[in-house]
Amino acid sequence: MNRNDLCYCGSGKKYKKCHLEIDAKLQIYKMKGYDIPPKRLILSPKDIEGIRKAGVITKGILDEVGKLVKPGVTTDEINDFVHKYTIERGGIPAPLNYHGFPKSCCISIDDVICHGIPSDRVLEEGQIVNIDITTILDGYYADASRMYYVGEVSDKAKDICECAKKCLEIGLSVVKPFNSISDIGVAIEKYANEKGYSVVRGFGGHGVGKVFHEDPHVSHYDTKTKGMIMVPGMVFTIEPMINEGTYKLNILDDDWTAVTRDGKLSAQWEHTLVVTETGYEILV
Ligand code: MF3
Ligand code: CO
Ligand code: CO
Repeated sequence: MNRNDLCYCGSGKKYKKCHLEIDAKLQIYKMKGYDIPPKRLILSPKDIEGIRKAGVITKGILDEVGKLVKPGVTTDEINDFVHKYTIERGGIPAPLNYHGFPKSCCISIDDVICHGIPSDRVLEEGQIVNIDITTILDGYYADASRMYYVGEVSDKAKDICECAKKCLEIGLSVVKPFNSISDIGVAIEKYANEKGYSVVRGFGGHGVGKVFHEDPHVSHYDTKTKGMIMVPGMVFTIEPMINEGTYKLNILDDDWTAVTRDGKLSAQWEHTLVVTETGYEILV
């Protein structure tokens, strides 16, 4: 790419006024042993706007669905709401048929870490529930999840949900150009361990945008690796799964549901974000 060409990122600016300086700096990080993002991970303002728009549906669902979370409701009923809400707004629920996943969202109760499949299971007073929504709109994916309480829950249950939310915020706080993706897990694991919790290792955050799961893989624990350098225009999720006991997990016979190996609680919060020149913007 020549200095006076239009920048590959799609900003409409000349390369010399846009990603040139960033690319020069990245070469130095590369020599130091860091991974640097391939160009396909630097999304254009148009692509970022597409993800933001898909995120309006995802956020709308997460805002509304809390009203449905109460004792006696089945997770299928919540799934039906998610499906209908998405379709009515011109979107597609990304989980449906994704590598054979049978439903339109993931609903993970108590000791389920993630990828819980909606079913005729009835919600019970005192449970904690993660609802994970990914919407496709005009080909763009927006992925986010939150925890919900079924009626009154114990202080112990509230504490792990609050810790997961705080871990997401701590992860976000280290997102800025030329920090490493690895810094996210270092910060999250330190906080979670101080609180007496463990961090799931078997799943992580991910690049997202024109596909559901893309590089970089975002670990929520310290992998002791240099990792990939963050630059403006990268879009990825942070979605820490925090366990009360062991971080180890089992996958059930349905090949999806991940549960804690000791049957203790797990909680998760998720955002999709874009790296900006000064830090980050939450897209959903
Ligand atoms: N939304 C999940 C994530 O945060 C992925 C769910 S994949 C599914 O990455 F197939 F289980 F829906
Ligand atoms: Co995700
Ligand atoms: Co998700």
